[in-house]
Amino acid sequence: MKNVLVIYFTQSGQLAEIAKNVALPFETDGDTQVDYHQIKPLQPFPFPWAKDNFFDAFPESFLQIPTELDPVPNEILNKKYDLILFHYQVWYLSPSIPINSFLKSADAAVLLKDTPVVTISGSRNMWIMAQEKVKKLLFQGGAKLVGNIALVDRVGNLTSVITIVEWMFTGVKKKYLGIFPLPGVSDKDIAESTKFGHIILNHLKSGNFDGMQAELVKADGVRISSYLTLVDKTGNKIFKKWSNFIISKKDSRKSWLKVFYVYLFLAIWVISPIVYILHLLTYPLKLNKIKREALYFQGVEENKYV
Ligand SMILES: Cc1cc2nc3c(=O)[nH]c(=O)nc-3n(C[C@H](O)[C@H](O)[C@H](O)COP(=O)(O)O)c2cc1C
Repeated sequence: MKNVLVIYFTQSGQLAEIAKNVALPFETDGDTQVDYHQIKPLQPFPFPWAKDNFFDAFPESFLQIPTELDPVPNEILNKKYDLILFHYQVWYLSPSIPINSFLKSADAAVLLKDTPVVTISGSRNMWIMAQEKVKKLLFQGGAKLVGNIALVDRVGNLTSVITIVEWMFTGVKKKYLGIFPLPGVSDKDIAESTKFGHIILNHLKSGNFDGMQAELVKADGVRISSYLTLVDKTGNKIFKKWSNFIISKKDSRKSWLKVFYVYLFLAIWVISPIVYILHLLTYPLKLNKIKREALYFQGVEENKYV
């Protein structure tokens, strides 16, 4: 009998759906006990988001400042798990606040130590550097990262900015103005995520996770876009300056968050299309580096970027 723990946080329910589908093969296996732990902040982040709250979450998300969580129940803490399926979402190019809070908690230290972990993210599309941060916290906690799956919204980058922001502000997954595609990870990708569960279960049963990440990648578990990687890395450098600056502005935080909002708007709608064109023009010169990076970001090697 193998013990598997599914850990997740979700606001819209998207990651709960993904978690359920990935866990399906374990549930029906008959020889695996699956437990679930939903991360819950003591002070919930209201969903749908009010605009001010959405931007107010930026400094603490990016600086990975933890908030207090409901404790993990003792019946879970006292058990030794053979595998953890760790589901998370990205907020501001970083693991969401509930996720970083969990990874930094004393409860996580108990659960992660010497335990194989598969990370599964459900984000808009910019998860590369967040995964580096998650990797760092997992390695610090003594976990063994054995797999990673990154589920994203596959529509164009700018389209998903519009549709996901609309979804976050209304709480409803619908076709914006009747013409935009549905926001978030597609229903098809969510439904098909069970295929990853089968791959992971096979390796759990054989007691050997070698080669598993290659199989997950082959099953379309991780797609790397060199353009999004570039934006993510550059965005991290700029967000670092903004977040440290805003967090230091106790009295004028609200006003600076408004300035940040204007900056973000311009960065997405003016700067990123220019970066895209420059990226296309310089692409042939960077081909070797792009290939090297794509291999690294598809893998589960120890973090080297944060
Ligand atoms: C405050 C906030 C910031 C976000 N920032 C990013 C981001 O930087 N990159 C990204 O790919 N998705 C981003 N997203 C989308 C989330 O990763 C995720 O897809 C969405 O919140 C749905 O997850 P849920 O299961 O919690 O409902 C952000 C969402 C929120 C609420």
